[in-house]
Amino acid sequence: MSTPSLSLPGGTWTLGDLTVTRFGYGAMQLAGPWVMGPPDDREGALAVLREAVDLGITHIDTSDAYGPRVTNELIREALHPYPESLHIVTKVGATRDEQGGWPTARRPEDLRRQVHDNLNSLRLDVLDLVNLRLGNAEGPQPGSLAEAFETLVELQQQGLIRHLGVSNATEEQVTEAQSIAPIVCVQNMYNLAHRHDDKLIDRLATDDVAYVPFFPLGGFTPLQSSALSAVAARLKATQMSVALAWLLQRSPNVLLIPGTSSKEHLRENVAGAGLSLSHEDLTELDDISR
Ligand SMILES: NC(=O)c1ccc[n+]([C@@H]2O[C@H](COP(=O)([O-])OP(=O)(O)OC[C@H]3O[C@@H](n4cnc5c(N)ncnc54)[C@H](OP(=O)(O)O)[C@@H]3O)[C@@H](O)[C@H]2O)c1
Repeated sequence: MSTPSLSLPGGTWTLGDLTVTRFGYGAMQLAGPWVMGPPDDREGALAVLREAVDLGITHIDTSDAYGPRVTNELIREALHPYPESLHIVTKVGATRDEQGGWPTARRPEDLRRQVHDNLNSLRLDVLDLVNLRLGNAEGPQPGSLAEAFETLVELQQQGLIRHLGVSNATEEQVTEAQSIAPIVCVQNMYNLAHRHDDKLIDRLATDDVAYVPFFPLGGFTPLQSSALSAVAARLKATQMSVALAWLLQRSPNVLLIPGTSSKEHLRENVAGAGLSLSHEDLTELDDISR
């Protein structure tokens, strides 16, 4: 359930037994172009991570596939030993090829290796939360997740993972995961213009399960819409602020993990996400997805 936080817009949410700020940070943009290789500005990337923690953010989303290994190593270098309040969420189920593709890797032996790789690169004994990434680059794909998810449950029983979630999942896969073991979050693509998961968000809210939209600002293609520009202009705010504020107001179980490689953008997003949107604003913004 969500509670107010004095420092960051949206307050906090509890993932299982872990309290996180609803305003989190997605680390994917810290790797090189197209999430391959090191960043051009390594010191700048480390500074963004330290700034996130200084601002009070206690939820960082990552994956050992980013770089690969690059973002996890940056997180370790910038923040280890980690503050007790900080929770790093990672995902397994995909790897990288030399062309920068994201081939799936969901056999039990792949998942065990990826969990150990994340433990090593983040220098942790236990991962707070691991999402099983399903589907492919085109989005969620139907099919049973049982074998892969049961492998993560075994690793959880061995004490290597505290909590589980699913990502890039269909509604049926969410239900299937919940029939195998409790999940604390679903991380799917969702933003003002892509609202396929509206029903799922409401269902998860009643189960006290978090919904963590990836690409909250449109990802590699920034959100573009005349309604978004009009609302932002009326409120004298940036479009990013409006998009993030809209997500925070969408439902209390929505957690933000916007990505940025810029300290200035991070500060701007934190400052802007607390914007209060009126009924009129929300109605206008609702039209974007229609
Ligand atoms: N589960 C999955 O399959 C999956 C897939 C994709 C992503 N993710 C997670 O979701 C997180 C968020 O996604 P994302 O980072 O790809 O996309 P995003 O948050 O929608 O957008 C990030 C983009 O917005 C720009 N941006 C951010 N704040 C800005 C501002 N104030 N002004 C102008 N531009 C701004 C960033 O550029 P600058 O760097 O210049 O600020 C970056 O290009 C990722 O970091 C990752 O952790 C998960």
